Amino acid sequence: MGTPGRHERTDDWTDLAGWWFAEAADPAYQEEVSPLFLQVLRPQRGHVLLDLGCGEGRIGEGLAAQGVRVVGVDVSLELARLASDRHPVFLKRLPDLACVRDEAVDGAYAVLALEHFEDSGCFFAETARVTRAGGSLVVVINHPVYTAPGSGPVMDPSDGELFWRFGEYLSPGRSREPAGDRSVEFIHRPVGTLLTQAATAGWSLEAALEQGVGSRAASKDPILAQHGDIPHLMALRWLRRYPGPERCVPAARRPGSSNR
Ligand SMILES: C[S@@+](CC[C@H](N)C(=O)[O-])C[C@H]1O[C@@H](n2cnc3c(N)ncnc32)[C@H](O)[C@@H]1O
Repeated sequence: MGTPGRHERTDDWTDLAGWWFAEAADPAYQEEVSPLFLQVLRPQRGHVLLDLGCGEGRIGEGLAAQGVRVVGVDVSLELARLASDRHPVFLKRLPDLACVRDEAVDGAYAVLALEHFEDSGCFFAETARVTRAGGSLVVVINHPVYTAPGSGPVMDPSDGELFWRFGEYLSPGRSREPAGDRSVEFIHRPVGTLLTQAATAGWSLEAALEQGVGSRAASKDPILAQHGDIPHLMALRWLRRYPGPERCVPAARRPGSSNR
């Protein structure tokens, strides 16, 4: 992914809310992200699920219509306020889930959000702690092939053939993408890092789906049109094994951290 130069940096998701409304209203979200998420989630009536990074609560509203009881968590006051018209919400900076009791929920999910949370190891440990044995975790992320700093399409000028530059795929890193007149940070973790952290926390992998750019996005962009086979989104589903881990304190809140 590229590095925007002239866009104002922000890590405040309330400042990014306007950009996110436009992104979420893009039909590509409904056509690509939502079906992929529902394919791995397998919602069950009566289940209590945490929506981690719930935004304005659109996903939870859809699940509530299917009898799922959703509780959101989001760091943005503006987005959490909107979500609270749809379902209960904790205003919290993830991966901290100290507000939720051990084994209190049937599962959790995070859609296009984990790539913005610090400390993914703690994210997997905390979601495992608050989920009952036999419960599930579903994550939909921008594929790490996309979030690697310096990754992106490269065109051969001689014949127009498209290649993919992997950038710094193999190490954890960060990149910034334009978000309206601001920029948003993506935290890159290689797939192996995420799978190892989840397994360490007691999550047992049940499904991993990878998806290329959809036809609507491709029809608007000749470069994206040649991306059909390059992974763009990834959806993962895990089952909570027994026993779960101890509570995890996020690195930024541990004694001695400058970000406490
Ligand atoms: C790209 S939006 C996705 C929103 C929602 N999951 C959806 O798909 O409609 C990312 C969301 O994660 C939230 N977020 C980002 N970092 C967070 C953090 N550390 N803790 C809690 N929420 C966070 C943002 O406020 C925003 O609502």
